[in-house]
Amino acid sequence: MIDFENITYNYSHQSGVYDIDLEIQDNEFCFLVGPTGSGKTTLLKLLYFDLFPHKGKVNILNYSSKNVKKSSIHKIRKKIGVVFQDYKLLKQRTVYENIALPLHINGVGRKKIKQLVREALDLTELSHYSKKFPDELSGGEQQRVCIARAIVKNPDIILADEPTGNLDPTTGHKILKIFEQINKEGTCVVMATHNYKLISDKTYRVIELNEGRIVSG
Ligand SMILES: Nc1ncnc2c1ncn2[C@@H]1O[C@H](COP(=O)(O)OP(=O)(O)OP(=O)(O)O)[C@@H](O)[C@H]1O
Ligand SMILES: [Mg+2]
Repeated sequence: MIDFENITYNYSHQSGVYDIDLEIQDNEFCFLVGPTGSGKTTLLKLLYFDLFPHKGKVNILNYSSKNVKKSSIHKIRKKIGVVFQDYKLLKQRTVYENIALPLHINGVGRKKIKQLVREALDLTELSHYSKKFPDELSGGEQQRVCIARAIVKNPDIILADEPTGNLDPTTGHKILKIFEQINKEGTCVVMATHNYKLISDKTYRVIELNEGRIVSG
């Protein structure tokens, strides 16, 4: 489902990711770890075609970075839920509207949207915040809105960039549980994290990056 073939992406001659070969299967749950600046976000951006490799190719959901058309990118993104490291919530929209947006984009009917958003709010314990605006929430609450927005469309793949960075350990574990549940239902989950503690008692595959290169996994 996800296949990196000898990928290099340079921001400059000193930073980027290099010679990445990596396969991630359908239904897999894996962690992407490594120190700050090691390339985790860059790898995720290559996966949802926010960046295109300078060398090699990325294949995802039967699309290839070599020949994907600009007009197809939105189709791929319909099937991918992204939890951004910097949230990217729409400030002028309520929590409810932020979470509903990907469903509107995917053409889901109003009644179904209501049901799915309620479920996502419940799951992320945000039901009481549905009418609030992002600026009225704490960092951890905004992070949960971002998680709800990623999971609400039942994507084939979830790419979560440091999704527990702003959460206390108990909430972090709850979020991990939500991702585990979604993974059991068939969604591939790739989660970048610094939080070694959170994953230390897990048996999932851990892909480790250092200075833009895969060192294990
Ligand atoms: N837009 C950019 N322009 C130039 N260099 C960048 C840009 N984005 C990232 N970099 C550099 O690329 C390298 C990898 O960055 P990346 O954001 O992928 O790291 P990361 O592992 O996600 O780090 P963190 O754990 O802090 O989120 C770093 O050296 C970073 O400074
Ligand atoms: Mg990052």
